[in-house]
Amino acid sequence: MSDFVSDFWHWYVAGISLLSILACAALLLSQHIKRPAKGEKVELHGHVWDGDLTEYNNPLPRWWMWLFYITIVFSLGYLVFYPGLGSFRGTFNWTSTNEYEAEIKQANAEYGPLFDKYLKVDIATLSKDPQANAMGQRLFLNDCAQCHGSDAGGAKGFPNLRDNDWLYGGDPATIETTILGGRNGVMPALGAAIGGEPGIMEVTNYVRSLSGLKHDAKLAEAGKAKFAICAACHGAEAKGNTAMGAPNLTDAIWLYGSSEETIAETIRNGRNNMMPAQKDRLGEAKIHLLAAYVYSLGGGVPAPTTAAPVTTPITTAPAK
Ligand code: HEC
Ligand code: HEC
Repeated sequence: MSDFVSDFWHWYVAGISLLSILACAALLLSQHIKRPAKGEKVELHGHVWDGDLTEYNNPLPRWWMWLFYITIVFSLGYLVFYPGLGSFRGTFNWTSTNEYEAEIKQANAEYGPLFDKYLKVDIATLSKDPQANAMGQRLFLNDCAQCHGSDAGGAKGFPNLRDNDWLYGGDPATIETTILGGRNGVMPALGAAIGGEPGIMEVTNYVRSLSGLKHDAKLAEAGKAKFAICAACHGAEAKGNTAMGAPNLTDAIWLYGSSEETIAETIRNGRNNMMPAQKDRLGEAKIHLLAAYVYSLGGGVPAPTTAAPVTTPITTAPAK
């Protein structure tokens, strides 16, 4: 109701609710006919059905009437305490959101320690713990499967998390960072920059040649020269760049697809892809379990022995 700009609908709805209740009460009162004294002959209704079927004009039983009165008192009481009368919130100030949040708070207090105890274990070790993985899998099915698939196999635009091809990196810490903070992969539209449709066809053929797909060698040769603009992100050897989530274009694993049409579409229109941040939704402990679960799926790569550089120079292509 609070979405309305004027009070009209509040009064309209509240008025109809109250009037209906009052009308029920009035109807009930109107049914109070005189009860016949003992032995008094009860009059007939006067209607006759099916030839000879008639009905006594008896009042409703008292207990039955009282049940109706109780429902009326109940409904008025309910409307005082709970939201129901137009936009009136009720004196208890109850909302489903409050109730949901209270339940979540209680569940977190109850189950939080179960998750927290895993927070101290490092991800690589945790990924070998069957109990932790079972918990991670359940969390994954609840919170991640709608995008990445229940087997984490991904779909068009949603990366496969089981293979060892990573947009951002597959070592434990990077996986956890991805889930905590989310990611936003942006590939700009570059059609105009590489000479419009003919240029797009050339570069598309070059990209297809990189993973051994059928291509026109002449077009690909011309596309290779234009790839310099792409190398800024995908690397001179097109092996990708995890610092910005630019995919490896040589490994025959595709986020969107390998067809000429799809590759041309990516170059022509660009891509803007979003992995939503989970930190505020799930909290660190659950994300730690999720990172271990994803790491356990087989594609995880060991943590680098030296600290990973925060930004990778864009002219070199880091091995993935
Ligand atoms: C609304 C859809 C959506 C949900 C929900 C989602 N993801 Fe993602 N995720 C994506 C997209 C899209 C990407 C790719 C982002 C990009 O292209 O930059 C991604 C990327 C990732 C990556 C990086 C993969 C790589 O190759 O580096 C990981 C890891 C990941 N998600 C894990 C998870 C986990 C764990 C959850 C559950 C908590 C989850 N995601 C929930 C859409 C989603
Ligand atoms: C500013 C950095 C940047 C530049 C420049 C760039 N790309 Fe990309 N490209 C990306 C990113 C990031 C993605 C992943 C987008 C996503 O996560 O949805 C991507 C995705 C792609 C894909 C999809 C790959 C797949 O697996 O489906 C292709 C193909 C591609 N780029 C080709 C090119 C070509 C060809 C050029 C040069 C004309 C180019 N890119 C220039 C950053 C860039």
